[in-house]
Amino acid sequence: MSDLSQKVHETLRDVPNFPHEGIVFKDITPVLADGVLFGEIIEAWRERYASQNITSVVGIESRGFIFGAALANALGVGFTLVRKPGKLPYERIGVDYTLEYGTDRVEMHVDALKPGDRVVVIDDLLATGGTCGASITLVQELGAVVVECAFLIELAFLKGGERLKGVPYHALTVY
Ligand code: PRP
Ligand code: ADE
Repeated sequence: MSDLSQKVHETLRDVPNFPHEGIVFKDITPVLADGVLFGEIIEAWRERYASQNITSVVGIESRGFIFGAALANALGVGFTLVRKPGKLPYERIGVDYTLEYGTDRVEMHVDALKPGDRVVVIDDLLATGGTCGASITLVQELGAVVVECAFLIELAFLKGGERLKGVPYHALTVY
């Protein structure tokens, strides 16, 4: 484990039984509150993607917005939103996906990306992969290329990587 992964691991807070009985919620707020650590995370991702000709960073609601906007700014590129249904004001496309129980949906503006854009899709956590997999589909429907998906945390036992359509992904800490 790298020093940075170790630091993230030590700083994250496990909250048992949130939001449901039996779920151990990975609370990232102590990581965000540590200005040095937050900066080191963004710098690690900036270095990783600086030579990849990235044209936009796509952040997944809601915690993906925090890391995604910071990374976009560090790379000097624009930031694009994947949102839950009913939040985006302009013309949009959407993809439904299955959760452990039931379904959900993510949406993007039709003009959020253009064909040939090269993007990093970013979120705080990869669990079953449903949210990120649907987000990849949205980006690809707009004609853009997902260079990689980046997460602070991967819950590897849920095998979310298998739902990412063969797109490479990277997680700073893996459980
Ligand atoms: C969490 C997390 C990811 C998603 C991962 O979001 O931030 O977006 O779940 O789960 P999956 O891999 O099984 O799809 P949450 O649903 O808590 O939404 P929020 O960030 O808007 O609170
Ligand atoms: N999203 C899905 N599972 C989660 C978990 N255990 N902690 C935080 N966010 C999550």
